[in-house]
Amino acid sequence: MHSVVFLTLLQATTAFGQGLRTIPTVDFTVELPGSLRGSSLSKILVDSKFAETTDENGSTLIPPTLEEFAATFSGDIAEVLGWDLPVEVGESAGEAAIFLTLGNSSEYLDAAGRPTSEGYSIETSNSGVTITGASPLGVWWGTRTLLQHLVATEDHALPLGRASDAPGWGTRGLMLDVGRHYYPIEFLEEMCAYMSFYKQNTFHVHLSDNLWNNVRLYDYEHQMQLYSAFRLWSDDPGVAGLNKRHNESYTRDQFDWLQARCAARGVTILPEIEAPGHALVISQWKPEIALPTDISLLNISHPETIPTIKTIWKTFLPWFHSKVVHMGADEYRHPTLPDEFLAEEYTRFVEEINSFITETSGKTTRIWGTFAPREGGTTNKSVSVQHWAPWEANPMWDFINNGYDVLNSGDRMYIVGKWSEPYPQELNLDFIFGADPSNGRGPFNPAIFDQNNVSNNAPPNHPSVLGHIAAQWNDFGPNATTVLEAYYQWKGGLPALSDKQWGGSLTRQEYAGLYAELQPYAPGQNLDRRIPSKGSTILEYDFATGRLCGGTFEDTSGNGYHAKSSCANSNEGMIIEPGCQVTTPLESKGRNYTLEFTIKPVSNNKGPILTGKDSALWFGNGTSDAVMLFSGDSAYALNYTFPVGEWTEASLIGAGRQTFLDVGEGRMEFQTILGWEGDKNVWTYIGIEAPLKTIGGGEFMGVIKGLRLTDDNQQKRNGERGVDQLILA
Ligand SMILES: *[C@@H]1O[C@H](CO)[C@@H](O)[C@H](O)[C@H]1NC(C)=O
Ligand SMILES: *[C@@H]1O[C@H](CO)[C@@H](O)[C@H](O)[C@H]1NC(C)=O
Ligand SMILES: *[C@@H]1O[C@H](CO)[C@@H](O)[C@H](O)[C@H]1NC(C)=O
Ligand SMILES: *[C@@H]1O[C@H](CO)[C@@H](O)[C@H](O)[C@H]1NC(C)=O
Ligand SMILES: *[C@@H]1O[C@H](CO)[C@@H](O)[C@H](O)[C@H]1NC(C)=O
Ligand SMILES: *[C@@H]1O[C@H](CO)[C@@H](O)[C@H](O)[C@H]1NC(C)=O
Ligand SMILES: *[C@@H]1O[C@H](CO)[C@@H](O)[C@H](O)[C@H]1NC(C)=O
Ligand SMILES: *[C@@H]1O[C@H](CO)[C@@H](O)[C@H](O)[C@H]1NC(C)=O
Ligand SMILES: *[C@@H]1O[C@H](CO)[C@@H](O)[C@H](O)[C@H]1NC(C)=O
Ligand SMILES: *[C@@H]1O[C@H](CO)[C@@H](O)[C@H](O)[C@H]1NC(C)=O
Repeated sequence: MHSVVFLTLLQATTAFGQGLRTIPTVDFTVELPGSLRGSSLSKILVDSKFAETTDENGSTLIPPTLEEFAATFSGDIAEVLGWDLPVEVGESAGEAAIFLTLGNSSEYLDAAGRPTSEGYSIETSNSGVTITGASPLGVWWGTRTLLQHLVATEDHALPLGRASDAPGWGTRGLMLDVGRHYYPIEFLEEMCAYMSFYKQNTFHVHLSDNLWNNVRLYDYEHQMQLYSAFRLWSDDPGVAGLNKRHNESYTRDQFDWLQARCAARGVTILPEIEAPGHALVISQWKPEIALPTDISLLNISHPETIPTIKTIWKTFLPWFHSKVVHMGADEYRHPTLPDEFLAEEYTRFVEEINSFITETSGKTTRIWGTFAPREGGTTNKSVSVQHWAPWEANPMWDFINNGYDVLNSGDRMYIVGKWSEPYPQELNLDFIFGADPSNGRGPFNPAIFDQNNVSNNAPPNHPSVLGHIAAQWNDFGPNATTVLEAYYQWKGGLPALSDKQWGGSLTRQEYAGLYAELQPYAPGQNLDRRIPSKGSTILEYDFATGRLCGGTFEDTSGNGYHAKSSCANSNEGMIIEPGCQVTTPLESKGRNYTLEFTIKPVSNNKGPILTGKDSALWFGNGTSDAVMLFSGDSAYALNYTFPVGEWTEASLIGAGRQTFLDVGEGRMEFQTILGWEGDKNVWTYIGIEAPLKTIGGGEFMGVIKGLRLTDDNQQKRNGERGVDQLILA
């Protein structure tokens, strides 16, 4: 670690100028003057000796072949650079080719000095680029290095020289609480793509949980009704009744698809099923196995409890394609039962479930750090511990020094969706760039558990530190945030974090510039919901003066986003009524945007005005007249409605993390109220995408005169590619 930092300083002063512009940073040695023009590259050549080779050492059981990684890489280049570089299989590096091959797998070392299959070298010369991996996964990370540098440099020029690069730690990534908030499977897939661009390799998905069970306020009946979810859907009779949210679940096909799509980009889905705490969804299914007073905890002594958990694992283990699975085992603390008793029960639970999982599937298991060995939590040392709370256990003294492997998820890097007393809503850059107490607030690395006390941290080369996962929780449940707000809460800090999880040497001074150059180009996702456009007007329909020709209505923005309509139009505008709708080729526009429309409801009929993939704007619903935005099942209403029989010029505005409606009397803000059923009510912002797919299509009746969508993001300097001009440029 320290020698790596030293080398970077030396190389920064090399005679021939700059190295590569990437996050994580790469120690590139410039060996020759001049550069290779990226645009002169003509193909991707896969070494025929290794085309079908896969990495057996990573955390996925479905590793892609070298040739499959090459195909994904080729698609990425087409997507973000617009270059057509076909994949060919060949014997050796060719002129103007990106040659992908494998080398000596013992040559690339992690922070503890062990070989890692994720290492790679990249070599550039006047005739082309060679990426040599310890395995195909190593090559994949090398393609991220190359792709990033090409998009970050205006003339796509590659310096001539070489780098050898490997991650310090084997587990790098994020955890998302999908238990207390449903996320469509496509969102998880897009997150994998975003993470992969910055070489994160693990997406931990927390599949079951419940809202905080406030036993001071809630009686048994209330606890039985409290929001809880188990997100996997199986028709197996053994788990019938466990999952009561069929339409907010992942089927086996969907989960397979997610795991394969993420593995294709080097990211492993690490599934977690939480018990014996945070297990209300299981107690609501089988109330007899819950502990009294707090039924979110299971009674491990009940003869049905361990068999029930084994049934769940038996059903779902065949779904999982990772070498490690997570059995939860977090926060098993009860208001009246003593910790000594609970620790003993807990240990027995972990032992039994660990043995069951390892014997049935050959996988290893992970738990959250709850009971330290000194409290009686003496579990099998093959179970790795995911540390989060310094008050639950000291990761260094309780676990590492007792022979446990520890994955760092210290709560200093926790995010809680939208609001929280102790936790922030975004990754903390001060911590990422200044967490290390050993060297005057040096950067974070996965062996740092305590930013104030050196004695509580492991040396960075300690072999028991597995890596780092930053966790995002949904303590306030499904209506506190939208799906995409989970992304925005990670967006700005994630690349910096990934540099530290890898062991890079990015500085805070370098970060802003590199972030701006790279962020718009992460392939395989469109989490920002960008829409390619020639100018700042993305879409414009004038329904009053424009003409409907053969069911098609013209977009006058110049972008050609013409609409299809089954509604009639008159010289007043498009006549929206039940049974007809207008459909655009667009789905959704992310922040910042203004969507202007002129509307005249002609009846009190409630229903959707605009609907898209991420949201919908409604003219009231069954119980309320208010104008409201939907995100998933949650409605966010204004204290306002469009007057029937009158024209209103309205603008729906997405400005940063807020969303407004403006009808000419100042902006009205859509907000959510956070709460735990009577406790902690906090009104706060909600950031909702513009719904664009459909106009009408429900019970709403009215006339829409025109519709215009503008992009309100500040464009880059003149002549540079604006973020939203990306694809058309
Ligand atoms: C592979 O690398 C290791 C570590 O650098 C080295 O000891 C070994 O000799 C190399 N093997 C070959 C075949 O080059
Ligand atoms: C991959 O695993 C195999 C078998 O355990 C081992 O022999 C090899 O050295 C490992 N390679 C790397 C790069 O870790
Ligand atoms: C899911 O089902 C519930 C109840 O069956 C329903 O209220 C809800 O609207 C459905 N959600 C979606 C996204 O279809
Ligand atoms: C757990 O279940 C067992 C078996 O039904 C029962 O004897 C025991 O009292 C229960 N434990 C608690 C703390 O209620
Ligand atoms: C620990 O768990 C592993 C894997 O299940 C098992 O092989 C081993 O026997 C266990 N050790 C003890 C002491 O129970
Ligand atoms: C630092 O951590 C060590 C080991 O946990 C502990 O003994 C010591 O009291 C801590 N120092 C301070 C100032 O908290
Ligand atoms: C209608 O919207 C109001 C206001 O947001 C909400 O309280 C109510 O639950 C909604 N009703 C239905 C049926 O969606
Ligand atoms: C809604 O607006 C009306 C009229 O301005 C006002 O009387 C009422 O208190 C408002 N309600 C809420 C919930 O803000
Ligand atoms: C969100 O749900 C909580 C209950 O968990 C409730 O108190 C709150 O009113 C809801 N907020 C909205 C905007 O519906
Ligand atoms: C989006 O709007 C917010 C709030 O108005 C502003 O702070 C931010 O800079 C805007 N973002 C861009 C990319 O223009």
